[in-house]
Amino acid sequence: MDEVRIGIIGLGNIGQVHVGNLMDGKVPRGKLTAVGDAMADKLPDYEAKGLKTFDSGDALIASGEIDALIIATPHFQHTTLGMAALEAGLHVMVEKPISAHKADAERLIETAKAHPEQKFGGMFQLRVEPRYQKIRELVQGGELGDLIRVIWIMTDWFRAEAYYQSGGWRATWKGEGGGVLLNQCLHQLDALQWITGMPSKIRSHVGIGKYHDIEVEDDVVSYLEFPNGASGAFITSTGETPGSNRFEIAGTKGRVLLENDKLVLTRNEVPSDEWSKTSKIGFQQPETTVEEIPIPGVENAHAMLMTNFVDAILDGKELIAPGESGIGSVELANVMVYSGLINETIDLPMDSAAWEAKLNDLIANSTHEKKVVEVSNEDFTASYRR
Ligand SMILES: NC(=O)c1ccc[n+]([C@@H]2O[C@H](COP(=O)([O-])OP(=O)(O)OC[C@H]3O[C@@H](n4cnc5c(N)ncnc54)[C@H](O)[C@@H]3O)[C@@H](O)[C@H]2O)c1
Repeated sequence: MDEVRIGIIGLGNIGQVHVGNLMDGKVPRGKLTAVGDAMADKLPDYEAKGLKTFDSGDALIASGEIDALIIATPHFQHTTLGMAALEAGLHVMVEKPISAHKADAERLIETAKAHPEQKFGGMFQLRVEPRYQKIRELVQGGELGDLIRVIWIMTDWFRAEAYYQSGGWRATWKGEGGGVLLNQCLHQLDALQWITGMPSKIRSHVGIGKYHDIEVEDDVVSYLEFPNGASGAFITSTGETPGSNRFEIAGTKGRVLLENDKLVLTRNEVPSDEWSKTSKIGFQQPETTVEEIPIPGVENAHAMLMTNFVDAILDGKELIAPGESGIGSVELANVMVYSGLINETIDLPMDSAAWEAKLNDLIANSTHEKKVVEVSNEDFTASYRR
């Protein structure tokens, strides 16, 4: 095989981005052959481009037209279509989150494990962004010393009501399984756990429909505790503008701060714990050096991850974002909202069955009436780089 025949199920905002990348040759050796969407009136446009079209994921999977499937539907179908595609012998690239909740993610991962010859990737494009790669290298390479504190204020996700009204599945327990955490913040939660590892405890306060007419969370303040005792905070909202995106990690050897596309590393000349034990002067701090680290951008992170996926299929290259590594962000999104809803601190790893039962309860008892109107999401592509 010298090229991979790729299909896409779900031709909404992000599905169209993948179509564009594949058709514009941004993914070498990846050939878009077929697409599908449950809304059949979307299909003629794609037929006119010479693609085979299908009005369901199952039909696309069974078509024999593809070797690999990109799943770009709403969240719950990531699990069902992902499992069906893997069982049918296809390679799978699943959009974020890999599943709507951790128990589903476990099911999907089990299926992928049963088909080790097929590639299973997750669309976690922050992992190819040099700024997050650099922060990870600093933390995991020990340059910051022992972790002391992790703070991510990610309130730069403002959404107007029109956004929530643009799809019946959006911001519903049944259609999406969560709100700002599972949708907008999923990339930050993925990057967080990819950089620092998973916390061991979480306690959250969540605002349910605090700024919008929705039934899921749109405002969250979470306290995190890490296995070594380091503390953290993750703060997000879709109701605040201009909002902030400020990511700071402090360790015994210094601090790294990412804000306004600037990455600044401040190093302690003597680690804080050593200084504290040896200094004879109570009010003095160690000298520091400050370095602004240049951070090149990435032109097309989605295409880079897709290229890596194709290279993994054809050449056995290692996946940058293996699908199974997507369970961490699903767990964080679930546990943060769950803790807020039950007003308790939750230890990680969380009980996935407990959250699935709670989510099923929320779905069964939902009384919220969702408005859906025709709105423009044409500025979508400008909104996803964070
Ligand atoms: N990686 C990223 O940067 C990124 C950005 C945006 C969205 N996403 C993810 O992509 C997914 C889709 O988001 P979106 O904003 O494109 O949504 P969207 O509502 O714009 O598009 C979803 C599409 O899926 C179709 N669909 C729904 N149910 C289906 C089914 N059962 N079978 C086939 N087609 C079905 C809909 O008709 C629609 O065309 C979500 O999981 C979202 O979290 C990822």
